[in-house]
Amino acid sequence: MSTAVSITGLRKTFGDKTVLDGIDLTIARGQFVVLLGPSGTGKTTLLRLLTGLETPDAGQLLVPARRTTVYQEPRLIPSKRVLANVIVGQRRSREHREAGLRALAEVHLDGKARQWPATLSGGEAQRAALARALVREPELLLLDEPFAALDALTRLRMQDLVGDLVARHRPAVLMVTHDVDEAIRLADRVLILDRGRFAVDTTIELPRPRDLADPEIRGLRTEFLHHLGVRPTAAR
Ligand SMILES: Nc1ncnc2c1ncn2[C@@H]1O[C@H](COP(=O)(O)OP(=O)(O)O)[C@@H](O)[C@H]1O
Ligand SMILES: [Mg+2]
Repeated sequence: MSTAVSITGLRKTFGDKTVLDGIDLTIARGQFVVLLGPSGTGKTTLLRLLTGLETPDAGQLLVPARRTTVYQEPRLIPSKRVLANVIVGQRRSREHREAGLRALAEVHLDGKARQWPATLSGGEAQRAALARALVREPELLLLDEPFAALDALTRLRMQDLVGDLVARHRPAVLMVTHDVDEAIRLADRVLILDRGRFAVDTTIELPRPRDLADPEIRGLRTEFLHHLGVRPTAAR
């Protein structure tokens, strides 16, 4: 197993609040890790430490050079067309343009390359953001609640799309979500952050696509919800 991310003894405090309290985490190349946890537990802080937007108070972080983040909002530049957004910051060249078009095709936005971001639906804009991430061929893909703003149906489609893209490109992934079912559908491994530490670190080896009615999956859901302080309802 070769390693994409290696974190040891990572600590982060803001004022007198310790958000990450000496965490250790190794992510293998190609591993899809999903991080769950209530609001304010430090999930975004962990991603920001991995991207280099925050500095740790203690501990060590080893991350690949090629890493990129997709956020809850697509963060497209309104004054640039869709393709220009996808290849933003890259040298102008035919290769980059063609790679951008290929990435747009992969997220099923082939026809939208020359459109303005304002003309895209929420799901389309988020797919453009995914294309912008993909075109950089990241070794580490960070996803911070990427589907949280989308309607339920679009969200399911996006989960499938991300699952397919990751299976094809094999970056290491660290995805934050609030949605336990989303975690179970996508993850090789689920982490739950609680008071600065990982309260859960569970590997899921079940084949995909995963049937949420499967008893083993229902067991995992109950366990994860319990750790999140939620009692599952009988209907699920
Ligand atoms: N730059 C900052 N300055 C002060 N406090 C911060 C800063 N960033 C995050 N925090 C605090 O750290 C805690 C964790 O935040 P965050 O990582 O955004 O949580 P999550 O993504 O899990 O909701 C919160 O209490 C938040 O208010
Ligand atoms: Mg957050």
